[in-house]
Amino acid sequence: MNKQPGAGKKSKNRASRAWVARHLDDPYVKLAQKHGYRSRAAYKLIEIDRRDALIRPGTTIVDLGSAPGAWSQVLRERLARAGSAAGLDGRIVALDLLPMEPIPGVEFLQGDIREADTLERLEAMLDGAPVDLVVSDMAPNLSGIAAADAARMSDLADLSIDFAVRHLAADGALLVKCFHGSGYSQIVEAFRRHFADVQVRKPQASRSASAETYLLGRRPRAGRPSVSRASAAGASGTGRQRAIP
Ligand SMILES: C[S@@+](CC[C@H](N)C(=O)[O-])C[C@H]1O[C@@H](n2cnc3c(N)ncnc32)[C@H](O)[C@@H]1O
Repeated sequence: MNKQPGAGKKSKNRASRAWVARHLDDPYVKLAQKHGYRSRAAYKLIEIDRRDALIRPGTTIVDLGSAPGAWSQVLRERLARAGSAAGLDGRIVALDLLPMEPIPGVEFLQGDIREADTLERLEAMLDGAPVDLVVSDMAPNLSGIAAADAARMSDLADLSIDFAVRHLAADGALLVKCFHGSGYSQIVEAFRRHFADVQVRKPQASRSASAETYLLGRRPRAGRPSVSRASAAGASGTGRQRAIP
């Protein structure tokens, strides 16, 4: 069947107009604008934290895939020291491929987590300190080719697990965005291998039509190369081995 010239472009334009209309109508977009969050994603973390109480003052948190910065804003609010503009009770280290507008008190590193050099720089920033919470909202640019997108997503989830396994404190937690689809059950298995308590979270702010879901791992299992608070001082945790088979 011959396609009309320009038909593909027209349907793309229609789809992007529909996206803009849906976006403008979205209650979470409106809330984010009202409260000064950089994206509606803030409400996903707020909702998960309301249920699971993950963000605790006095802790060290790593935010993977942080740009444009809504999750870092939420983390910062929770760790903000009363009466101090930039002072935090705790530490937030954020990482993204893309640049991120500064957020007072949030340490930002621009780099690709798949690159050894980025991991080394991130680990140097942590300087061996145990991490209490790792959150990863990383998502690849989608190509539209389902198998390739699922493989990229799984790779980012694996890297988040690998990083968390090597840096989490004994009572630490890991929250990772995943997509239901091929590779999902392997990510759940990896979570179960490394955490005694694994939960699936689908916050209301995550669109129901989206395959996006979040896995939460708590109580890291013994036997992993854990970082203890006592032994952490001065010991850089740089390790190139992949913990996830
Ligand atoms: C959905 S956005 C994160 C939104 C963020 N949580 C917020 O609240 O603003 C996903 C992010 O993952 C980042 N990302 C994707 N692949 C990455 C990689 N290999 N290394 C680091 N960041 C990556 C993207 O650049 C993008 O900014």
